Amino acid sequence: MNISLKSPLDMHVHLRQDDMLRQVTPFTSEQFVGAVCMPNTLPPVDNLERYTSYISNIKDAAAPHSFEPYVPLFFRSDYTREELSSAREQLFGIKLYPAGVTTNSEDGVAELKLIEPVLEIMQDLDLPLLVHGETSGYSPDREREFVDVYDHLATTFPKLRITMEHITTKEAVEFLDKHPNVFATVTLHHLLYTMDDMLGGLFNPFLFCKPILKSAEDRDAIQQLVLSGHAKVMFGSDSAPHTEILKRTEGMAGCFTAPVLLPMLAQFFEDHDQLDLLQAFVSDHARKIYGVHPPERTVVLEREEWVVPPRYGSIVPVNAGETLRWKVV
Ligand code: DOR
Ligand code: ZN
Repeated sequence: MNISLKSPLDMHVHLRQDDMLRQVTPFTSEQFVGAVCMPNTLPPVDNLERYTSYISNIKDAAAPHSFEPYVPLFFRSDYTREELSSAREQLFGIKLYPAGVTTNSEDGVAELKLIEPVLEIMQDLDLPLLVHGETSGYSPDREREFVDVYDHLATTFPKLRITMEHITTKEAVEFLDKHPNVFATVTLHHLLYTMDDMLGGLFNPFLFCKPILKSAEDRDAIQQLVLSGHAKVMFGSDSAPHTEILKRTEGMAGCFTAPVLLPMLAQFFEDHDQLDLLQAFVSDHARKIYGVHPPERTVVLEREEWVVPPRYGSIVPVNAGETLRWKVV
């Protein structure tokens, strides 16, 4: 038995830069024909020159596959109308990081009040806003607290498309239907795991990420949302590689899921007798929401067991050592 997926997309991934970029990109370009590649590099992708060269570096690393990188610019409160409108045709969107909430977000927005002039321009240009929606409050509450910010933004800019990236809570799920201009991505790890998988026994640093894994109740709400086939929900892995050393010694946040994504997703949908929903979750919803036309390629999974290696070079994947039952052909 095979599963054929038409032009799967990963709507949120971290491919990094330099050697790491070359090492991790093939996992994404083998399984997906395009991806939203996050701009929190060092320095961040926050001008057109870096934007163009980042896209070209990703395409080189993705070869021989034809692969479309959708790179949102890193939000700066001082983007001008001229800057954004002259580049509009090339741009995919802008990613907002509140300062300091996650990896390489030090150059993010320190004062949310100051972002509105840029949002006004984005709304006029129909340039989507992608958001890492966490406050700097108590870790498990950060996303719940941010829902008020989403509410304010969606109300103030009703024509601005806003994507709540990597949602993890039942509050975010409930909020999704409040505004027609609000969408969401869901990761593999927040769909499958809870905080106990990370620290209920011995601490598993490879499941440590931002937003932090939540309760079973939150995870179940995310599962129900995805299994309802909700058209505002897209798959975005948030695969975020760090070397094993940095994970263990510096406590870097990020789960490297890229090598296991489609096999694990197939397993999840099959376990819930909903394999027919996989195609829309990994491609169709995103195409409609963003109006993108990614390369046409069919990715096939076959039923064949394989064991996830303990590491890929210096990076430990999520599910290392586990036997998966679907394999990308
Ligand atoms: O866990 C995370 N890691 N969450 C993010 O939002 C960023 C990412 C990274 O870049 O490492
Ligand atoms: Zn991310």
